Amino acid sequence: MSTDSVRKVSPCKEGDHGKFEVKSSDGWARLGLFHTNTHKLATPTLLPVVNPNIQAISPSEMWDIGFEALITNSYIIWKGGELKEKALKMGVHKLLNYPGVIMTDSGVFQQYVYGDVEIGEVEVVEFQREIGVDIATMMDVFGRPDMTREELEDAVAVTAERGPAALTAAGETLLNGPIQGGTYSDLREKSAFMMSEMDFAVHPIGGVVPLMENQRYRELIELIVASKSQLTPERPVHLFGCGHPILFPICIALGIDLFDSAAYALFAKDDRLLTPTGTIKLGEIQEWPHMSPALFSITPAEARNLPKEKKIELLARHNLQVTSAELARCREAIRTDTLWDLVEQRSHANPELREATLWLYENMPADLVLNTPPCRAGGIQWSTDIDLHPRVVHASHWLDWAPPPCDHFGNLIDVEDRFVVIIHGSSGPWRESDGAIISKMVRNWPQIIPLIYTPIGLIPFQLEDINPFAHMLGPAILWDASLPEFDGKDELEEYFLPLVEELLDCDFERIVLHNSADEEEDLFERLTILLGEKMPSGEGKRSGVRSHHQRYAICDKINMFSGLGYDVTHSIAPNLTFVMSRTRRVNNVLLDGVHIFSQRLTDGGLSLTTDGAKWIHEMMVANSETVGLPEVVIDSDAEPFVRDGRNVMHGFILGHQGLLRTGMPCLIVNQSGELVAHGISQCGERELLAFGKGIAVKTRGGIKLD
Ligand code: GUN
Repeated sequence: MSTDSVRKVSPCKEGDHGKFEVKSSDGWARLGLFHTNTHKLATPTLLPVVNPNIQAISPSEMWDIGFEALITNSYIIWKGGELKEKALKMGVHKLLNYPGVIMTDSGVFQQYVYGDVEIGEVEVVEFQREIGVDIATMMDVFGRPDMTREELEDAVAVTAERGPAALTAAGETLLNGPIQGGTYSDLREKSAFMMSEMDFAVHPIGGVVPLMENQRYRELIELIVASKSQLTPERPVHLFGCGHPILFPICIALGIDLFDSAAYALFAKDDRLLTPTGTIKLGEIQEWPHMSPALFSITPAEARNLPKEKKIELLARHNLQVTSAELARCREAIRTDTLWDLVEQRSHANPELREATLWLYENMPADLVLNTPPCRAGGIQWSTDIDLHPRVVHASHWLDWAPPPCDHFGNLIDVEDRFVVIIHGSSGPWRESDGAIISKMVRNWPQIIPLIYTPIGLIPFQLEDINPFAHMLGPAILWDASLPEFDGKDELEEYFLPLVEELLDCDFERIVLHNSADEEEDLFERLTILLGEKMPSGEGKRSGVRSHHQRYAICDKINMFSGLGYDVTHSIAPNLTFVMSRTRRVNNVLLDGVHIFSQRLTDGGLSLTTDGAKWIHEMMVANSETVGLPEVVIDSDAEPFVRDGRNVMHGFILGHQGLLRTGMPCLIVNQSGELVAHGISQCGERELLAFGKGIAVKTRGGIKLD
C-alpha cells in the first residue's frame, strides 16, 4: 500500500463481527456497512478478482483506487505449493499486501471451467479459515443454465446439504452461502430459503456467469428477484462474477450489495475498455470516448504502441477506475433517490438490458414498491416508462382521495350534482398557472371538482403541490404530448372517464376538459350551457374558495400521512387553523389550537409533530376499526432512551402492527400499547426484526414521562 494512502482500515467493534447495517435505502437498494474484523466495508461495492500469482494491478493500488475489499481464489493458493506455505505462515493479507477485506472463493468456478478440483469440501473451508480470510466460501455446486431441471434441483439440494459441515469448518470466519437454481425462479426461491435458514454471513447468487457472458440479462434479473424475495434481509447479497458497470444500477436497485469480477483484467487482455454504458475496443479509436485518470496523459495511438504487458496494465487500471466511479455514482444515486433514473438511462444503452428492465418494470416486486417512499423532495425525470417507476406506482396507490363533502359556503354537495373540470396542457405549479381560473370557476359553480392532468396521472387541484405529481422534469410539450392523439374532444373525454372514476372511486360521467392555453371565455360558455347560469357576482368570495381548497388539501394530506381515513379527516376540517408562510402557503396545521402537522414546502408532504402523534394514537385507541399509522413495539430497555428522543435501534424491537413502510411515519409504543414516540421508519416489515444492527426508526419526537 502506498504510504500516502488516505484510506484507513477501520475494524469492527467487538460484538459486531459479521453484522450488516443499512445506513439508508430506497426500495431494495441499500447503502450498507458490513462489519468484519479487518474493516467495516461500505456497500454496494465490487471486489476485484486477484490472481495470487499474476497481477496486472497490485492489490495495494486497488485499495488506493477505492476498493476496500478483494476476492481471490483459495484453491489456487492451496494448489500453489510454496504459495500455500507462505499463506499459512503469514496469512492472506500479508501474502497479498492488502489492508482491506479479503474474500476467497472455494474453487467452484475452477470446477465449472476446468472440471474436477482435488480438494475436499470441508478441507477447502478449513484452509480458508487457516489463512485468515475475512469471508470464506463453501464448496457449492455450480448450477449451469443449460443443466436439466433435475440436475439443477440436485445442485440446490447438495449445496444446502453441505452447508452445516461448512459452517462448522468455518468456525468464527464469515462464510458465503451461495444460491443456485439456474434460471428456474422456484429453484432460486427454494435455494434462497434453505440457505437463509443457516448461519451464513453473506449470500452470493451463483451460476450466473454463463448468463452474463451471453447477455441473457432478462433471465439474470428474473432470478435475482426470485432469490431476493426469499433471502433473509439482514445479510449482504453478492452477485458472483458480475463486473460490467452497465449492470450495476439495475442490480443495486434490486438489492445486490456486493459484486466481484475479473472483467477489468479479462477485458484489458482483450484490448477492451469498460464504460458505464458498454465496452469499447481500443481498435483504431482516435480519442478516448470515456476518460479516466489512467488515460489522462496518453493517446489511444500511444496506448496501442505500448509493450503488451504495459498496455494491459493501462487498460486494467482504466477499467478499475471506471468500475469504482460507477459504483460511487450508484451509491450517490441511492442517497439522492435517483437510482431508478440511472436504471432507466442505462437500459437504453443495450437492447438486452432494455428488455430486462422492461420485464422488471412489468414485474416490479410489491415489497420494493411499498418501500420506495412516494413523496420526496426533488423532481422525477420523465421517461416513456415513468408510470412504472416504483415511486410513481407507490404514489398512485397512496393517493387515496375523496372530494370535499361541502362547497366553500359549507353547503353539502350532492354526489349527483358534482361536476369535474380537467385542466391539461400546463406544468406545475398549477396554483400559479391555473389557480385564478379555477377559483373563478368554483366561485361560479361550487359543485365543480377541479382536477389537473399530469403525465403520471390525474390529481385534484387542491393537491397540486404534492410530489411526485408536482415535480416532473421533462420538456414543456410533455403535458400535452403525453396525451393520446384524439380527433375530437369527445374521444378525449372518453379517455379521461375511467381515470376520473378511478380517482373518485365511483361511476362518473360529468366532465369537461380545458386546455390551459385556451380562452377562459370558451370554458365559461361551455360550463354555462352545461351547468346553467353562474351565481350572481359577489356571492362566492375569492378568498373563500382559496381557503376552502387549502383546508381540504390539508385534510387530504392528513388522510394520506395519518391513515385515519376520510370519516375522521373531513370531520375535523372546521376545527383546523393554519399558520401561513409569507407566500400564503400553509406552514403549520393546528387542530383546536394544537400544532399537529407541519407542511413541507419542498415536497408538499406533512411532517407529524409529537402532539399530532398523540392525537393519532388517541384516535386509534378510541376506535379499534381505525387503521391509523403503523406501530413499532419496543422493549422496556429501549423505552427511556426513545422517550428521550433517541432513535429506535434494531435489536430492541418486539414487533409491529400495521403496514410499515420505509421512509414513512410510524408510532412507537411500548408493550402496554402506550405511545412512547413517533418517527420515520428506516425499513419495511421484513427487515424490522431480522436486523441486529442499525437504526430501525428515526425518532422525531419522544414523549417524556412526567
Ligand atoms: N464464481 C462465479 N460463479 C460462482 C458460483 O456459482 N459459485 C462459486 N463458489 N463461485 C463462483
